Amino acid sequence: MLRNHSLFLCFFFVVSASVLRSDHVLKLDPLVTKEERRTVALTDSGQISAIDVNDGYRGPYHIQFITMEPNSLFLPVLLQADMVFYVHTGRGMLEWVDDKDMNRLDLQPGDVYRLESGSVFYVHSHANPTREKLRIDAFFTNRNNESSQETYFGAYSTLSDLVLGFDKRVLQMAFKVSSELIEEIMGTTKPTSIIRMPSRNETDHPDWRAGIIEAVTGGGTSPGIYSRKKGTKAFNILRRKPDFENCNGWSVAVNGKDFRSLKGSDIGVFMVNLTKGSMMAPHWNPRATEVAIVTHGQGMVRIVCSSDSPNCQNSRFRVKEGDVFVIPRFHPMAQISFNNDSLVFMGFSTMARNNRPQFFVGKRSVFQAIDVEILAMSFNVNNATVRQFIDSQQESLILECASCAEEEEKKMEEEDRKKRQEEEEEKRDEEAKRREEEEREARKREEEQKQRQEEEARREEEEAKRQEKERQERQKREEEEAKRKEEEEKQRQEEEARREEEEEAKRQEEEKEEKERQERQKREEEEEEEEARRRKEEERGGGGGGEGRALKKIWKI
Ligand SMILES: *[C@@H]1O[C@H](CO)[C@@H](O)[C@H](O)[C@H]1NC(C)=O
Ligand SMILES: *[C@@H]1O[C@H](CO)[C@@H](O)[C@H](O)[C@H]1NC(C)=O
Ligand SMILES: *[C@@H]1O[C@H](CO)[C@@H](O)[C@H](O)[C@H]1NC(C)=O
Ligand SMILES: *[C@@H]1O[C@H](CO)[C@@H](O)[C@H](O)[C@H]1NC(C)=O
Ligand SMILES: *[C@@H]1O[C@H](CO)[C@@H](O)[C@H](O)[C@H]1NC(C)=O
Repeated sequence: MLRNHSLFLCFFFVVSASVLRSDHVLKLDPLVTKEERRTVALTDSGQISAIDVNDGYRGPYHIQFITMEPNSLFLPVLLQADMVFYVHTGRGMLEWVDDKDMNRLDLQPGDVYRLESGSVFYVHSHANPTREKLRIDAFFTNRNNESSQETYFGAYSTLSDLVLGFDKRVLQMAFKVSSELIEEIMGTTKPTSIIRMPSRNETDHPDWRAGIIEAVTGGGTSPGIYSRKKGTKAFNILRRKPDFENCNGWSVAVNGKDFRSLKGSDIGVFMVNLTKGSMMAPHWNPRATEVAIVTHGQGMVRIVCSSDSPNCQNSRFRVKEGDVFVIPRFHPMAQISFNNDSLVFMGFSTMARNNRPQFFVGKRSVFQAIDVEILAMSFNVNNATVRQFIDSQQESLILECASCAEEEEKKMEEEDRKKRQEEEEEKRDEEAKRREEEEREARKREEEQKQRQEEEARREEEEAKRQEKERQERQKREEEEAKRKEEEEKQRQEEEARREEEEEAKRQEEEKEEKERQERQKREEEEEEEEARRRKEEERGGGGGGEGRALKKIWKI
């Protein structure tokens, strides 16, 4: 029950790990040219350049190319990953401390060795009459085996980085030295990683670095817990008898089984020399990823993609000295040399322990192990054809292949041309699409503009109409007002006229009345006069009475 439970847990972790990994699928880029290396350090005494590669499964794998002038010192560093290196040219000495020993190793071309992470090492290049540089190609990885989950945090760190990160006080207490000494150490500029080797007389006035080196490496006056320097021998891949050799070339591969230094790591080292016009027969690695560095010549590499992953593409490329190419597992490959020169490459393979390269042809071919009938069905041909197909080649591994590289190159150039053409076409298409899009956009903008203008015009028109209507209304109102006023005026005038008429009439009436009154008055006066006259007549004697009566008669009429 408990066992089932842990099995389940295990399964769960594996599943979640693979889910995590698929989240950021590594894109395989099988070729990194010498020109693509980046410079890590460059001094008068040497140079370090580096690249990172991945195989689409794991990685990154870090590779450094260390070049040291004769009589230089690669200052001590603490390794943070396992380092497997190959000495390309030159001679020198490697000294390192692992967890128990102080070790020393003479270096010469072809040497292969592995230092485990956690070691502190430094390298001294010998002065030599030919002034040949010491060149070391180093491969760094923390993924020693399939179950290893360590992540890569960088290749190494320098001693000054390690030590001087602490505060003065801490260092003073730790090293039990004066603050002046600590200040002197902290005050100097950080050394470059490769320096000229100080000569012996200079050590009369010892460089502080020497002190640190000795302190860290357990040298100096007291040996500390470390055993005294122990000489070790490297494995020399150039001196080893090839695993396979014929007139077309040779190949050699070593792993932890063959060489003690590689034990405990799953990294293997291989080297192949293809003479002019030869080919490493098509093969694949069931477990290992190969990271190869071309050490001499030029050639063509063909990688076939076996799965239908979008990350995986058949590729064919040209390699030259200093280039690095990566071949992931399961990818059938063939390396081919040109007719005019040999192609030599060495490399590192991961998961090398149980890797057995599978070749297509020759006696060791996997096809030899499979029933002819089944093979015939696989290729959909008859027995005879398939027998002929697999039995004709007597050689294996390294084959003659005159002008194959040249043809591959032609094909590659053709492909490149086609690809460039396609890219150009694509670019043109994109350009056209972009233009079309732009035009559409412009048209749309124009239409919008037009619409806006129309809208504007319509609004203006409406506004004008509205204003016109308003004007008309105002005019009408004004006219009406005027009419009204006119009418009022007329009315007023009529009124006036009427009033005047009335007044006239009144006046006339009054005049009439006045006249009447005057007449009446006149009459009354006349009457009074008459009366008076009558009275006077009466006073004069009655004769007048008759006249008075007669007048009364007239008046009455
Ligand atoms: C894989 O590597 C880890 C640490 O690097 C080690 O502990 C483990 O034993 C290794 N496994 C195998 C099968 O070698
Ligand atoms: C080292 O010492 C020798 C003699 O003791 C002297 O001839 C030589 O010039 C010195 N070298 C340097 C670099 O000081
Ligand atoms: C590779 O093979 C060629 C031809 O046999 C030879 O001249 C050359 O020295 C070899 N290179 C190495 C590095 O062994
Ligand atoms: C060998 O031939 C190839 C292809 O023809 C050519 O590119 C290359 O420069 C030649 N190498 C030498 C050393 O002549
Ligand atoms: C192929 O060979 C097998 C025996 O090896 C035979 O039984 C079979 O009939 C052959 N098939 C053809 C198509 O010849």
